[in-house]
Amino acid sequence: LENGLARTPPMGWMSWERFRCIVDCQKFPDECISDHLFRTAADLLVSEGYADAGYEYVIIDDCWLSKERDSNGRLEPDPERFPHGMKQLANYIQSKGLKFGLYEDYGTKTCAGYPGVIDNLELDAQTFGEWDVDYVKLDGCYAEITSMDEGYPQFGYYLNKTGRLMVYSCSWPVYQEENGMKPNLTKIAEHCNLWRNYDDIQDSWSSVQDIMEWFAKNQDVIVPHAGPGHWNDPDMLIIGNYGLSLDQSKTQMAVWAILAAPLIMSNDLRAVRPEFKEILLNREIIAINQDVLGIPGKRVQQHRNISVWVRPVTPVGYTHSYAVAFTSNRDDGAPYTYSVNLNDIGLTNPAGYTFKDLYGDKEFVLRANATLTVRVNPSGVVFYKATVLP
Ligand code: DGJ
Repeated sequence: LENGLARTPPMGWMSWERFRCIVDCQKFPDECISDHLFRTAADLLVSEGYADAGYEYVIIDDCWLSKERDSNGRLEPDPERFPHGMKQLANYIQSKGLKFGLYEDYGTKTCAGYPGVIDNLELDAQTFGEWDVDYVKLDGCYAEITSMDEGYPQFGYYLNKTGRLMVYSCSWPVYQEENGMKPNLTKIAEHCNLWRNYDDIQDSWSSVQDIMEWFAKNQDVIVPHAGPGHWNDPDMLIIGNYGLSLDQSKTQMAVWAILAAPLIMSNDLRAVRPEFKEILLNREIIAINQDVLGIPGKRVQQHRNISVWVRPVTPVGYTHSYAVAFTSNRDDGAPYTYSVNLNDIGLTNPAGYTFKDLYGDKEFVLRANATLTVRVNPSGVVFYKATVLP
């Protein structure tokens, strides 16, 4: 969507993967979907250095609404959990230099059963505008799949009509995929800043592997549609939670950088251990993700359960520079030794490249046609930036 926003993949924090639909604030005061949770997230994004690294959007996912609209038919947040209303919360988040995102659903109900927008597209877009929303995630539960091709653009039209610039995140393709339809990504990219292509991420390595596999298998179809203003979305970063080891967390971060994926964390920022935080704050990897060319990478080789992923990035010389990741689906214990010839993975600059290890300090030069040998930990990653030499 050419609205001037999301020129690089959006970065931020969102509640769903970690906090789901916890609504009992008596029992779970620090975890329930409430004003308190999002103010805390905003505070910590700033005080813990995430905002400085680029994480910007604080996004409320499902379960913020009252079960009913108000007497004027308008959406309203749950009055107990959001006692100050949405605009005040938005303005608090914005006062910290951050941006405010809010979830809704194109259907009759959200996935968790709260009011959807379907019969109130214009009114609800207006309401979002009045609440100073900066980012809208529009889900697709309880909706007529066949009307999404018209309905999602229509809601986007009303968002635009408010005069307020809002990033528009669509779930339109994933619901079509699930129903055996082939999403029209040309149209989706025209109307949305980002879109969910595939299943929800869960707190496990198998979920991350499954998503990586889907994006690799479908890369020739989906990659051409991504670029500044319009991105494929493999779903949230789950680093810092229960399910991923340190190596697996490094893998998620590396592959999300290769894919030019939105970097939207869903974790408990009060509880992220330092070694996981370091991964989330890795400036060199974030720079790969945010590279101005906005060309997503692809899996270029897969052999013996090792995958090689390559993304073209700046600076550009005789060829691009490249981010190169070796990921492992192996579980046989020892780090696995793997070699590639640079030409075979598309690194053809005759003068070669400077390789910088993005999870370490190692730096070395390799000429075209040279062999690169790595050792990849089980479920881990070796990740380099290869900067083109003159
Ligand atoms: C399905 C979406 O894909 C998730 O990201 C989340 O928004 C849930 N719905 C909320 O119900």
